[in-house]
Amino acid sequence: MCGIVGYVGDKAVDTLLIVSLERLEYRGYDSAGIATLNGGKLGIRKQVGKIQVLKEILKEEPLEGQLGIAHTRWATHGEPSTENAHPLTDCKSEVAVVHNGIIENYTEIKKELLREGHIFRTQTDTEVIAHLIEKHLNKNLLVAVQKAVKRLEGSYALAVISIKDPDRIVVARYRSPLVIGVGRNENFVASDASAILNLTSNMIFMEDGQIGFITRRRIKILDREGKPQEKKVKIVKWHLLGGPQRDGYRHFMLKEIHEQPVVIRNVLQRRVSQDAKRIYFEHTNITKEKLLNIGRVIIQACGTSWNAGLVGKYLFEKYLRLPTEVDLSSEFRYRMPVVRGDTLVMAISQSGETADTLAGIRLAKSMFLDVLSLCNTIESTIARESDGVIYVFAGPEIGVASTKAYTAELLALFLLTIYSGRLKGTLSEEEAMRMLEELKKIPYYMEEMLDNQKEVLECAEKYYQSSNFLFLGRKFNYATALEGALKLKEISYIHAEGYAAGEMKHGPLALVDERMPVVCIAPKDSVYQKMISNIQEVKARRGKVIAIATRGDEEITKLVDHTIFIPPIREEFSPILTVIPLQLFAYHVAMKRGCHVDQPRNLAKSVTVE
Ligand code: F6R
Repeated sequence: MCGIVGYVGDKAVDTLLIVSLERLEYRGYDSAGIATLNGGKLGIRKQVGKIQVLKEILKEEPLEGQLGIAHTRWATHGEPSTENAHPLTDCKSEVAVVHNGIIENYTEIKKELLREGHIFRTQTDTEVIAHLIEKHLNKNLLVAVQKAVKRLEGSYALAVISIKDPDRIVVARYRSPLVIGVGRNENFVASDASAILNLTSNMIFMEDGQIGFITRRRIKILDREGKPQEKKVKIVKWHLLGGPQRDGYRHFMLKEIHEQPVVIRNVLQRRVSQDAKRIYFEHTNITKEKLLNIGRVIIQACGTSWNAGLVGKYLFEKYLRLPTEVDLSSEFRYRMPVVRGDTLVMAISQSGETADTLAGIRLAKSMFLDVLSLCNTIESTIARESDGVIYVFAGPEIGVASTKAYTAELLALFLLTIYSGRLKGTLSEEEAMRMLEELKKIPYYMEEMLDNQKEVLECAEKYYQSSNFLFLGRKFNYATALEGALKLKEISYIHAEGYAAGEMKHGPLALVDERMPVVCIAPKDSVYQKMISNIQEVKARRGKVIAIATRGDEEITKLVDHTIFIPPIREEFSPILTVIPLQLFAYHVAMKRGCHVDQPRNLAKSVTVE
């Protein structure tokens, strides 16, 4: 979490940094700040609140300079306040630091520095870095930062400037991403490439343990021991749909919900041949022989990506007959999983930077397992550290609540299943072609659903004041129940539980009374009758049922209070449609409750700390 940018060059440094920072605001938005060096003077503006507030301040009191650093914060240590906002400085305000990550041993370092007479002004863990640098700084900022980071435990991406060494920004990375953008007579640094992609496509992705600096004309990168490292410049082109404009939509989330048909259509065009006989994956880097020899799959991910992984488990087991586990990365990384050499570990991540998911990948690699990731963000750390990657190509997702990345992840799992099923012979060519033909209809179905939001709006109007919700689903739509509940709670702050419908009578049924809205995902599939029984159980306790059902299902409308229809579709693919009304429902409820949809409280888009 937290976003960092830095710039050295001729452009108006404060404007450039603020524009780049806005592209990182999804990483955190409780406070923001900027520091520049101008003729040997350090200027700092920082403020609690969104970047817009900082922008207003800069309008009144601009900051000039030859270089600068900026930060948008998601608080870990110390409440969101102007004082705790970055950049943070040393005792004499000669050094300014922006940091993403967590310094785990900061209490110990702070005690030591206090004993030495340093004066602390904030409750942050980051402040120790500024004082450590101060302690070691003579004239060479690089050397001082090298010495300082040797003391740090935890994770950090750092950008540091100082009036004592005023021509450069010193950068360091350990377990938090940092990328250097290469320009002409100017250079950049950022937490991720998207912040500076409008300024340059030439990127150097720093590796863990590296430290270095940028000046207007130079870039230097060293390893932990101080040995110069090769600068591997990658050309990053990401001119996909989307981007940081809302294009007339009130919120990014709404825009991203509406982009889903286009995303699905584009991916199908890119990955499936016209005659529906071939599927293309460019970067899997896993040979067909290896794929054939996989004996077990562990999918590890967090949040919405985990929910997509759950659908993956059901797909792989049904069509590939592969034992598949889906684990939360934060559990997987600490639970000493038992693996065999033929286990494939799959990570799923929109951002490609989630700290726990990345740790899961590193654990898998330490056990010599192959790692194949499904990722949205091109050249993200997860994409780079995995053996192979299947990009889901949803385009930049800015709204904190994941929507189009989820359905793009599902599509990637559908395609991977069909591809592997053909390879293993568990799927016939005819069946695979039928499945692909059906996938091609999905964008049209999505458009149809997005064009008619009447029932969703009615339900939002009726229930937006409820304090609790249950979401029930079975089999492929168990994941939809979890995802529907997650969307609602994260953006509307309503308590919502997603359950496998069969589990209802093992506890949650006790919650049901006439005040409890229960969203039942009940398309016409192999568990339809079971869902109908569950709906009846809810109705018998006077619960209010909103059913997500298959168009033409008259039977269900007689049973429930509200029905939202989806077009008929094969059950394995249904989660890609059933989730759409739930995304819209969460959005409209949040709007009615006056919540900040794109930037819900306490959350950040990219969870780069544990
Ligand atoms: C929910 C949401 C989060 C993320 C989770 C994993 O809408 O966005 O639950 O899904 O933080 O993030 P990624 O997919 O970036 O690893």
